[in-house]
Amino acid sequence: MANLQASRLFSVQDRVVVITGGGSGLGRIMARALDANNVSKVFVLGRREDALRETGAQAPNSSVIPVQCDITSKESLEAAYKTVASQTSHVDLLIANSGIMGPLMRHPPPAADGTLPSLSAVRDELFSVPMEEFSNVLNVNVTGSYYTVLAFLPLLEAANKRRNAPQAGVLSEPTAQVIITSSIAGFIRKVPFSYAYNASKSATTHLVKMLATNFAAYDIRFNGISPGLYYSDMADHIFSGAGIKDAGISDGSFPRDMIPATRGGSEEDLAGLILWLASASGGYVNGNILVTDGGRLSVVPAVY
Ligand SMILES: NC(=O)c1ccc[n+]([C@@H]2O[C@H](COP(=O)([O-])OP(=O)(O)OC[C@H]3O[C@@H](n4cnc5c(N)ncnc54)[C@H](OP(=O)(O)O)[C@@H]3O)[C@@H](O)[C@H]2O)c1
Repeated sequence: MANLQASRLFSVQDRVVVITGGGSGLGRIMARALDANNVSKVFVLGRREDALRETGAQAPNSSVIPVQCDITSKESLEAAYKTVASQTSHVDLLIANSGIMGPLMRHPPPAADGTLPSLSAVRDELFSVPMEEFSNVLNVNVTGSYYTVLAFLPLLEAANKRRNAPQAGVLSEPTAQVIITSSIAGFIRKVPFSYAYNASKSATTHLVKMLATNFAAYDIRFNGISPGLYYSDMADHIFSGAGIKDAGISDGSFPRDMIPATRGGSEEDLAGLILWLASASGGYVNGNILVTDGGRLSVVPAVY
């Protein structure tokens, strides 16, 4: 009979993890959660060194190692890979989490009497966003995630080579895994913020599926997480727009027709999800997109 105690099921002890965007928001929460549960090393990647160091300062078990990296540059990714490879023989889990919202790209609102804005007003609004800014969102969220995965493949393969030979009747250790942070925006057709952001997250979700299929033969698993609304630098304008002055994690923070849970996602919500996925109990999960949104997708109109 297996030992089904939570401390064993969800153990991430001694894992080596790389997280992009680890200097803020969701990436920082995931780094802190892994550090608090005795991973061996968490390399946090991002452009701002001071932010990465601050994540380290908030992680009492000293497993967090900052590595400056711009995921839109192959040279920078290669340099970060070499820095990580000089400090570990393998990476059990890569979390490609960096992302940007980019400029708002939404239709002007209808008039008070419900009259739609004219098409030329819609055109003026949307056409005013420079093409480069649209492309930049795709570049960071999709292209950057893709090249991050490619950069770290050898260290993920090295993690698989360390696995013990299978023994009959004994649960094998999980294979190496990549988690990519997508968003529920990737399922939503109505544009709350930006055409580019939603399109990029839809592409990110599909990228997870394609990678899971094409790397299955190499025993590398790919999963995605699709958060709804979690307080972060990126989401700050949504919270302040709703008149919320904190992280909005208590019931009643948001209207039920926006988020059925009536609150934003918490550090605990995300930490629990990532510990499960990173642990042996998550070892049978592959090619999945895990939605963590308090039920928001269930009430947003026009989803796939
Ligand atoms: N918060 C939410 O409600 C929510 C919901 C759904 C999905 N998400 C997704 O969650 C992920 C994290 O976002 P967040 O909410 O935590 O916002 P955030 O605090 O703004 O984090 C974004 C991170 O991405 C990094 N980044 C941006 N451009 C980069 C680049 N070129 N190279 C390397 N790193 C880069 C940033 O670090 P540097 O600036 O230091 O490079 C930053 O740490 C994103 O993919 C986002 O789309 C968030």
